[in-house]
Amino acid sequence: MKTVLYPGSFDPFTNGHLDLVIRAGLLFDRVIVAVAVNSEKSPMFTLEERKELIQKCCSNLPHVSVVLFRGLLVDAIVEYKADAVLRGLRAFSDFEYELQMALMNRSLRKQCETIFMMPTLKNSFVASRLVKEVASLNGDFRPYVPAVVAEAIDAKLRERRERK
Ligand code: PNS
Repeated sequence: MKTVLYPGSFDPFTNGHLDLVIRAGLLFDRVIVAVAVNSEKSPMFTLEERKELIQKCCSNLPHVSVVLFRGLLVDAIVEYKADAVLRGLRAFSDFEYELQMALMNRSLRKQCETIFMMPTLKNSFVASRLVKEVASLNGDFRPYVPAVVAEAIDAKLRERRERK
């Protein structure tokens, strides 16, 4: 039974993320999408909202589960008994950051292997940050996210407009 842990911010979960989850399911028995309880000061979605949206996007994939993790990724690997970390590589520009992270994680825990997968070309430029930017500037972000995420973004934008 091989398990891969796919960590990220997923604010929001995009077609590129879903693409990777599906690909990983072809290589691993279990895919755990791990939403990091971290960093970003003003995310569009709360952690629970992100978790719920990813669960909805993956509801037809029984080998996929979604968790929140706090602290170091290498500790989450142990907690969830994962054999590897999965990260997406879209372009060469992702590589330096990803290499640094993978090597730091391996330095912290020498068994921590990181597997990189590329999304299909159609999703290779899709990034949560860009989706949020396009959405907030009234552009059509819908082609880049699963339908449930698109609905949730629409709801957030409506909320924001009503608050003004
Ligand atoms: O989707 P993102 O924002 O690129 O994901 C980055 C993430 C969450 C995978 C990374 O920041 C992370 O692993 N955070 C957990 C804290 C940690 O272990 N930091 C050291 C990593 S070298």
